[in-house]
Parts: sequence; structure tokens; C-alpha cells
Amino acid sequence: MSKKIRLKVPATSANLGAGFDAMGIALDLYCYATFKATDGGLRISGCPAEFRGEDNLAARAFRAVEDVIGAGHRGVEIEIDSDIPVARGLGSSAVMLAAGAFAANEIYARPLDSAKLLEITTAIEGHPDNLAPAIYGGLCASVAENGKTPVSAHYPVSENLRFVALVPDFPVSTAQARKALPGEVSFKDAVFNLSRLSLLPKALETGDSALIGAALDDRLHQPCRAKLIRGYDLIRARALDAGAAGVVISGSGPTILCVLRREEAEGFVTRMGRVLEPLEDHWVCHILDCDREGARVI
Ligand code: HSE
Repeated sequence: MSKKIRLKVPATSANLGAGFDAMGIALDLYCYATFKATDGGLRISGCPAEFRGEDNLAARAFRAVEDVIGAGHRGVEIEIDSDIPVARGLGSSAVMLAAGAFAANEIYARPLDSAKLLEITTAIEGHPDNLAPAIYGGLCASVAENGKTPVSAHYPVSENLRFVALVPDFPVSTAQARKALPGEVSFKDAVFNLSRLSLLPKALETGDSALIGAALDDRLHQPCRAKLIRGYDLIRARALDAGAAGVVISGSGPTILCVLRREEAEGFVTRMGRVLEPLEDHWVCHILDCDREGARVI
């Protein structure tokens, strides 16, 4: 049993347009967390005081792994140092769950495999689309039904792509964004998404701009969520003019994720800076690559 471990867990962007609640990609923006086995109790630092109790997501996942392996709840100290903004659609909750589950598994000498960690954390989060890439890295498709083990598939992502995250200074909670969803969708819109989603793995594997443009379109969730993001229509239109092959709401927003060729990323950010600067909200651009490893010990 190791006494202290330090982890790195990637941010994630779920949905990717057509893949609502199914697809997610890991990005090279990280949460670092140190877990130390102690004689008793729980101590958490590096996050606001209201998140330092047993309901902290990393602590819940840690305890859930202990319950599955039949260990008692041991003392643990968790130190969080995250570059991933909270409530911005970059998977910050899934990252904490993945960190807690991964850390417990390491501390107890790896009794569980990654699929089991995905199952345990999905039972807490409710959907696996951010969790699978946080755990495995790369582009992941996943399916979870209540009470069943989630099934996930992993796809390669072209080295020639970059993911520019445009992050505003206002939050949108997932709960709020899920309330904006329609109760039903039309057969036509379901087919629209299915056909586009089937292009997505090949689009991101090859980096083909035309495929990416088609694959990242969506009629299930983005039309209802766009209104939660001030400036969305303008920013999306300008990002496409500035050379993005595809533009989507990252997860449940408000971050806007633009997919484009690696060599175009710097120029794109300069052009988008001129679009974002006069807006009433402060927006920050991050040029990100796909993280291909997922949660790991460092
Ligand atoms: N698929 C989820 C959603 C991701 O869009 O609501 C955010 O947790």
C-alpha cells in the first residue's frame, strides 16, 4: 500500500457536438492532486471551504472505491491544485471523481481496472462522457445504463489538430444546462445527430476539416443551450470565419471549443482575441492538444 501519491488528471470536453452524453475528449489542461494515507479523518486543501467535506467529489470517489473493495474508510489527506476552471464545461467534476477513484485504487495497490473505476465514478456523476476520457485519455465513446457496467471505446486523435477553448468568466452549472434540454426531440433531429456522430471518430483521427465541420454539428442540445452563453452566436460565427473547422459548446458550457489545424492555432487565437476583447464578459483562450494518457501518477 503506498502512503502518498501525486496524480495528474486531464480536463475533458464532452459531447463534441453530435455526441451528446456519449463522446468526450481529454485535453492537456490538468488537475494535480496529492493523496496521502493518514491515521484517520479526511483533510482537503486547495479548494473553497464548502468543498472540503465528505461530499467533496474526490473524497466520494475515494470512499466509493474503498466500499467496492471492502476496505474500511481510512484517513486521507487530499491536496488539490487544479488549472481546470470550475463550472465552465471542461469536466472539472469528472476530473475530481476520476482523481479520487484513481488515487484510492493506487493506494490500495490497484485491485480494480479502469473499467471498474469508470463504473464506480459514473454511478456518482450519472453520465460517463467526461469520465471516460479523464480516466483513459484520448477520444472516448461511452454508454452507461442504470445499474449496468459502462461500455467505452477509444479512438486515436490526429497530432495535427488543436482544440482552442474559449473560456468566459461566468459559470454555467451542468444542472442549469440540463434543465434547458428539451423533453423530446424529433425523429429528424435524432437522425441528423446520428449521421454526424458516425463521422466523428474518423474526422478527429484524420483531421479532415470537411469531416470535422459536419461531425461537430448538433440539433439535440446546443440549440437550447446557446442562450445560456452570452455572445455565443457571434463568437461561433467569427470562429468559423477565422478558420475553425468546427465549433461546439464544450460539455454543458459555457466554454466554446474550436477545432482546427495545429499550424492555424496561433493566428486563430490572435483573430479571436480581437473579437472577444470588446465583449462584456472577459474571455480567455487556451490552445490545447488532446491528452492521450488520462489520469496518471506523476
Ligand atoms: N453530457 C453532459 C451534458 C456533460 O452535456 O450535460 C456535462 O456534464
